[in-house]
Amino acid sequence: MAKIRIRQCAGAVEAGRGTILEAALRAGLPYPHSCRSGACGACKTRLHEGEVTMGPHDPAALTATERRRGLILACRARPRGDVEVEWLGGAAAPVLRLRGRVHSLESPNPEVRILRVETDSRLPSPPASTQGCASGGCRRGPTAWPTGPTSRCWNSTSALCPTAW
Ligand code: FES
Repeated sequence: MAKIRIRQCAGAVEAGRGTILEAALRAGLPYPHSCRSGACGACKTRLHEGEVTMGPHDPAALTATERRRGLILACRARPRGDVEVEWLGGAAAPVLRLRGRVHSLESPNPEVRILRVETDSRLPSPPASTQGCASGGCRRGPTAWPTGPTSRCWNSTSALCPTAW
């Protein structure tokens, strides 16, 4: 079984038959992502070693130039053997499990849904390192922690990765 090594985390995950993102999330890793469909670019990743098969994606999410420079979309990339990757933009927000109620669901266009959830408990504050971010990718608030390739605020990645997986 092929292995996926992720530079921000120690160890490796089993690739399985799915994408790099699916394997990472299955292993409980906080891999940056959003749409899971090759449309947003939030999972943009540098492929350091190995080969992948890229599924269909929006050219705006990953340009041909970026692809030639070794970037891939983790949500569209299926490993063709062992690979070593590094997600861009520092660490993702940690995965939180919270109880809540659906507050609203909007469809601003046919491809986007905005789901607002009112949580039963307050979200913890983002790390102090996210304050004053100059990238423009950080939004503070109850449901918007920095995620995605434009957020370069969270750099203490090892603290977010499980040590045993
Ligand atoms: S999660 Fe949106 S392009 Fe991969």
